[in-house]
Amino acid sequence: MIDCQRVRRRLEKLSEIGRDPEGGISRFSYTEEYRAALELFAGWCREAGLNPRIDAAGNLVARYEGTDSGAPVIALGSHLDTVPNGGPLDGALGCVAGLECLQSLVEEGRRPAHPLETLVFVEEEGTRFGSGLLGSRAVAGKLTPAALAEMRDRDGTSAAQAMENYGLRPLAVGEASRRSSEFEAYLELHIEQGPTLDSESVPIGIVSSIAGIWRYTFRFVGEAAHAGTTPLPVRRDALMAAARWIPAVRDAALQLEGPGNVATVGHVDVKPGAINVVPAEAAASLELRAPRESALHRLAETVLEEARRIAAAENIGLEVESGARIAPVAMDERVILAVENACRRLGIAFRHLPSGAGHDAQAMAALCPAGMIFVPSAGGISHAPEEFTPWDQIEAGLRVMAETIQRLDQGDNSEG
Ligand code: HGY
Ligand code: MN
Ligand code: MN
Repeated sequence: MIDCQRVRRRLEKLSEIGRDPEGGISRFSYTEEYRAALELFAGWCREAGLNPRIDAAGNLVARYEGTDSGAPVIALGSHLDTVPNGGPLDGALGCVAGLECLQSLVEEGRRPAHPLETLVFVEEEGTRFGSGLLGSRAVAGKLTPAALAEMRDRDGTSAAQAMENYGLRPLAVGEASRRSSEFEAYLELHIEQGPTLDSESVPIGIVSSIAGIWRYTFRFVGEAAHAGTTPLPVRRDALMAAARWIPAVRDAALQLEGPGNVATVGHVDVKPGAINVVPAEAAASLELRAPRESALHRLAETVLEEARRIAAAENIGLEVESGARIAPVAMDERVILAVENACRRLGIAFRHLPSGAGHDAQAMAALCPAGMIFVPSAGGISHAPEEFTPWDQIEAGLRVMAETIQRLDQGDNSEG
């Protein structure tokens, strides 16, 4: 039987690790806070009689053997890394829920036909190295040692170096990759992180597709000058150019027809960043998201054209660096139907919806049929300390997840 109180206790315990002064959670990959959270989770896996292992990328894998030793795995999972000042449920809910589904079967002495695994993927957010889904892409065989050597955090530490400092061998990251034939399906429980379910008072979301994400750095390059003696007309003020460009980014997304097309400038690094110096450089992050690849192409073209036009008008240099690209992906129809029928069987209302947030399910979909179950986010808030989902709604998500696993295990896609 799913023990929702145990899930609640574990989520509350996890939320204490990486707690920051603003009351949110800042738990970044390959740091000591991250290690503490992973070790706490590994201890719970051992309590459940599962023997967790850490793969070459730093993902945790806990497995419960099935009665059919040759059967492919039904995998569950999510992530324990967070955005800066993040909330207690983004990622953690899916990890704790996956473990709860395995542990409740172990405690009832029930063994499914398929082996079950619950995974904790590292660096899902991309907060530290700017490239999300790092752990799940490693499992999907899409991560190379060269890529790890290239990705850097704000201190200039590469992902490879951070992994080495953490006790991993980045050159061996290929050992984390798994074969498609090993998996029956992948299922992830996650908070919606948007307003739809909460505003419509629907307890369960069945994800139809996950938005594609394209990331860039737009570096506007001007010239440092004395803020008191340099006349305005002769300045080459990099931040002024960036500031003119940023509204054009938003307009480009607003003017593109269709739901789910968004564009965000999350941070601007200004150099030298002194109050009395005309900014020489303004490096702006840019993230484009859309449910269709064609929309991403259109957005990228428009914002680049605008950046070039403004840079020329401001006599500023422009350097554009492409970052991570994650393709939009549809969830698997069979898994979607299994979740639907689980909701029907349990008498829990649901609706289908696309995900504007990226998830490890996106990377796992390259390996096997993937699906996601959403529970509401109060007020649509996420990536903030105020992130909250009422426990009865979390319980509904857990019950639907457990019922869906049973259906996937039995190949049962009957109605209700
Ligand atoms: O950024 C996202 O979409 C997710 O929270 N990783
Ligand atoms: Mn997440
Ligand atoms: Mn997130």
